[in-house]
Amino acid sequence: MRGLSPHYKNEYPGWGRRGPGRSRLTFFSIMALMMLLLTIIHLLSSVSAAPPVRQNQPCNSIDNGYQCFTQVSQLWGQYSPYFSLERESTISLDVPSGCEITFAQVLSRHGSRYPTESKSVAYAKLIKVIKSNGTSFTGKYAFLKSYNYTLGADDLTTFGEKQMIDSGAKFYSRYKALAKKITPFIRASGSDRVIVSAEKFIEGFQSAKRGDGHSRGDAATVNVVIPEGDGFNNTLDSGTCTVFENDDTSSAIKDNFIALITPPIRKRLEADLPGVKLTGSQVIYLMDMCSFDTVATTTDGSELSPFCNLFSEAEWVQYDYLQSLDKYYGHGAGSSLGPAQGIGFTNELIARLTQSSVHDHTNTNQTLDSNPATFPLDTTLYADFSHDNNMISVFFAMGLYNGTVPLSKNSVESIAEMDGYAASWAVPFGARAYFEMMQCRHEHKPLVRVLINDRVVPLHGCDVDQLGRCKLDDWVRGLSFARSGGNWKSCFA
Ligand SMILES: *[C@@H]1O[C@H](CO)[C@@H](O)[C@H](O)[C@H]1NC(C)=O
Ligand SMILES: *[C@@H]1O[C@H](CO)[C@@H](O)[C@H](O)[C@H]1NC(C)=O
Ligand SMILES: *[C@@H]1O[C@H](CO)[C@@H](O)[C@H](O)[C@H]1NC(C)=O
Ligand SMILES: *[C@@H]1O[C@H](CO)[C@@H](O)[C@H](O)[C@H]1NC(C)=O
Ligand SMILES: *[C@@H]1O[C@H](CO)[C@@H](O)[C@H](O)[C@H]1NC(C)=O
Repeated sequence: MRGLSPHYKNEYPGWGRRGPGRSRLTFFSIMALMMLLLTIIHLLSSVSAAPPVRQNQPCNSIDNGYQCFTQVSQLWGQYSPYFSLERESTISLDVPSGCEITFAQVLSRHGSRYPTESKSVAYAKLIKVIKSNGTSFTGKYAFLKSYNYTLGADDLTTFGEKQMIDSGAKFYSRYKALAKKITPFIRASGSDRVIVSAEKFIEGFQSAKRGDGHSRGDAATVNVVIPEGDGFNNTLDSGTCTVFENDDTSSAIKDNFIALITPPIRKRLEADLPGVKLTGSQVIYLMDMCSFDTVATTTDGSELSPFCNLFSEAEWVQYDYLQSLDKYYGHGAGSSLGPAQGIGFTNELIARLTQSSVHDHTNTNQTLDSNPATFPLDTTLYADFSHDNNMISVFFAMGLYNGTVPLSKNSVESIAEMDGYAASWAVPFGARAYFEMMQCRHEHKPLVRVLINDRVVPLHGCDVDQLGRCKLDDWVRGLSFARSGGNWKSCFA
């Protein structure tokens, strides 16, 4: 089974506790209790194994995100639509009692999108060839005969927009104590889907705020758009680390893993689709289509694309790992310059948390960051909108997955084995990391905590407590990789 050990919220009061009453229980009443417990366990497990969706059940909520087809949709790597990891978090995500949030920063990925331009062309071409080569399309493949590829490219889908509205509303409600009084400072990286994501987030945030009876004060707006592309220093979409941009070692790792997992899938598809001959990457393309077709065709994501049924759950587990592997060796600790590109954002966050100017010589734009109009230091709510690859770099620059040992390049590891790291857990569509600072009774120093998609990620490099927190100054001290500029110089070696 994938994932960390399940975390049941319902405890049976008194169970396992020894008291005077308990010792008087007869053998038979213990047996009866055991039977009852077994029945409950049986009921619980049959509930979770059954297809979770019925037409009239909300499976896509503001709080929990997309949970319509949990068995597969959480196994699509970075193409999984956002889902809350609250149940997977071993630490409660509630604000600890006696504490008050004094600062919150969200770093968000854009919502569900169409395939990127080059992928969209490749998928369209593959489907066309399958339709012309194939001599018969039966059973679960029947839809292919009349399937016409009509997906757009690069932009958010309608479902993606809705995810971001939900994300803004959720951010408002979690940080309400601050959010009702303060207008967040908002930046977006300069691609359309990221800017629109920020705007939709604001729409959800404002509407939750109005619904809560707080309509006064400035409306939130996108304060800064940082241009993407050659020559721009951009902490939300790094592209200036030249050596990294010209490096291709991670794609060999990916190709090798594709060659390991796809042969049996390819054989089955070719047997089921007479006339069709597929390569390993084309098998992966057909798996990608499950997510892209799903997030493009329904506005609430309540229907699964017919592409999804062509693969088994075990195959989705392999696919999910492939994506985790690709991110780890492409942008995370497995890449020598992956984390370097998260340094700039880390130093910006340190500046915001400590209300002191930005010290960075990597990918920050010093013109923007030295100007209070484009980089204020005196507010307590921030929202930044970015991309999956950039967020992976940031998480690794902060050492958030320093408990993860190098990923196996030739066998699937469970998310527990990866200490909670996975592309689907870290950077799904609409992903959000919350960096929060809190002031607690009996502790005069502020504490910091990080939640990634509702999972408390215990901090590394500092004296972490049982709730995953460190004292701010201790955490900042431990972020020496970023503060020292890390190995950014090797970008130009
Ligand atoms: C795809 O296009 C063809 C040709 O225009 C059309 O006959 C078919 O109905 C379309 N399929 C669907 C599912 O709309
Ligand atoms: C930095 O930001 C300023 C202001 O937006 C812009 O004019 C300039 O081109 C940027 N420089 C770099 C290197 O990104
Ligand atoms: C389609 O058929 C051509 C010609 O035999 C072949 O080269 C190509 O690989 C086939 N593609 C698929 C996806 O079946
Ligand atoms: C952009 O980053 C480089 C370091 O990579 C730095 O030398 C340059 O001054 C930066 N430009 C701005 C405007 O911050
Ligand atoms: C995480 O590990 C890297 C590599 O060993 C190290 O440079 C960095 O300081 C660590 N970060 C934290 C916060 O512990």
